[in-house]
Amino acid sequence: MSDTTPDTVRRPLISGNWKMNLNHFEALKLVQELSYEVTRDDVDAVDVSVHPPFTDIRTVQTALESDRIPFHLGAQHCHAEPSGAFTGEVAAPMLAKLGVRYVIVGHSERREVFGETDDLVNAKVKAILKNEMVPILCVGETLDEREAGEAEAKVKAQLKAGLSRVKAEQVATMVVAYEPIWAIGTGKTASADDAQAMCQTVRSSLEATHGEDAAASARVQYGGSVKPINAAELMGQPDIDGALVGGASLEAETFAKIIQYRLHD
Ligand code: PGA
Repeated sequence: MSDTTPDTVRRPLISGNWKMNLNHFEALKLVQELSYEVTRDDVDAVDVSVHPPFTDIRTVQTALESDRIPFHLGAQHCHAEPSGAFTGEVAAPMLAKLGVRYVIVGHSERREVFGETDDLVNAKVKAILKNEMVPILCVGETLDEREAGEAEAKVKAQLKAGLSRVKAEQVATMVVAYEPIWAIGTGKTASADDAQAMCQTVRSSLEATHGEDAAASARVQYGGSVKPINAAELMGQPDIDGALVGGASLEAETFAKIIQYRLHD
């Protein structure tokens, strides 16, 4: 696909998913430390987003703005409705108002621990787009599904359902994160070949559902135990346009090395 559309430049996106870690003081410290490690050249080459817990977002937003730190603000989750009686939830317009640009949606932890269905994920994708933010739609198979030869079918089904009735022009702006569940937080990374193969499947699936232009423009991240040692090889694959990083994004020096994967090739 990349071969057939040489004009499309997909800027790599490296995203730090902090999950339920760091209070707002710790988040501020991390983002400041990260800003000392990451250079202007780095952010000229790569987009960086940080995804703190909700309680830290305002603090991180203020730090990014006042210190002119060129990272994008992200969130890990949102509700599909714009407002209402949903105790404990946070709506997409609230995130947009805070300057959030990227919102992770359908992370396997949300699907597995909190029972998020494909329909719910689809409603959230639409809410995020409606509020002019960029969904990072997560898809991926379990180890059992991979061993049963069902990985591709699972990922394709998640994409089809998650992007149902989303316009092709919108899909073109989106990010899909392929995260094999067996690789998340386990230290086991998919081989670069396997990750590339599935990211290519993601792209051809987008082409089948939303056309060639959308497939050529959408960015596909790999996630699952990305570390400084494997980032360059993963990022070197033609259909991998970025990384969704969990554990290794919680330490400034480590995350910076992933952002600087070009230097550690
Ligand atoms: P990990 O998490 O890098 O700790 O494996 C990735 C993710 O869950 O997005």
